Amino acid sequence: MSLRINDEAPDFTANTTQGVIHFHEWIGNGWAILFSHPKDFTPVCTTELGYMAKLEPEFTKRNCKIIGLSVDPVDNHTRWVKDIEETQGYSVNYPMIADSDLLVAKLYNMLPADEAGTSEGRTAATNATVRSVFIIGPDKKIKLMLTYPMTTGRNFDEILRVLDSMQLTATHKVATPVNWKSGDDVIIVPSVSDEEAKGLFKEGWKTLKPYLRLVKQPR
Ligand code: BEZ
Repeated sequence: MSLRINDEAPDFTANTTQGVIHFHEWIGNGWAILFSHPKDFTPVCTTELGYMAKLEPEFTKRNCKIIGLSVDPVDNHTRWVKDIEETQGYSVNYPMIADSDLLVAKLYNMLPADEAGTSEGRTAATNATVRSVFIIGPDKKIKLMLTYPMTTGRNFDEILRVLDSMQLTATHKVATPVNWKSGDDVIIVPSVSDEEAKGLFKEGWKTLKPYLRLVKQPR
């Protein structure tokens, strides 16, 4: 069965570059990002994992842990992080799952449609995890799912942006408009009446249409 937003994130035990983890226990009470890449020692992945190393302090500030995954063994991950640091200038301090038996890849549907179900004889292009991202909330539910093709590196600034939006909208009755970034005006959700809005947004708001009301980002 394919995963959907709001499903509980499947729990698992896995070997990582930082030892064995039990996923839900590892997440703890905060947010988490699980992201897969096709193969160690490949160019696009090298840039992606380096960029996530750069962004990790931003995720930490937001009480969000990050964890990478591919079907490569821990030894490969450990040797590859040296290349990532050398070429990208950031050291990978987050754990990387070694999913050699494809357990997590199958639980999270990270394999492409023509996947044979075994890691033997695979090539990076045909038989590896695709570029998936899952954002998981403190309630262990899936909040975002994203899948990218092999040949396109992801925009992890966007993942940070979505996390900001989700954390804001989890605690305030607002939604964020197109291309919103933290600090921009937000939208009062339609389920809030003008009467209720008066109590929630004391500085007022701008009504463009009865269903489109803009307000300063609540703090
Ligand atoms: C890469 O990360 O560069 C890559 C991985 C798999 C297929 C194509 C490119």
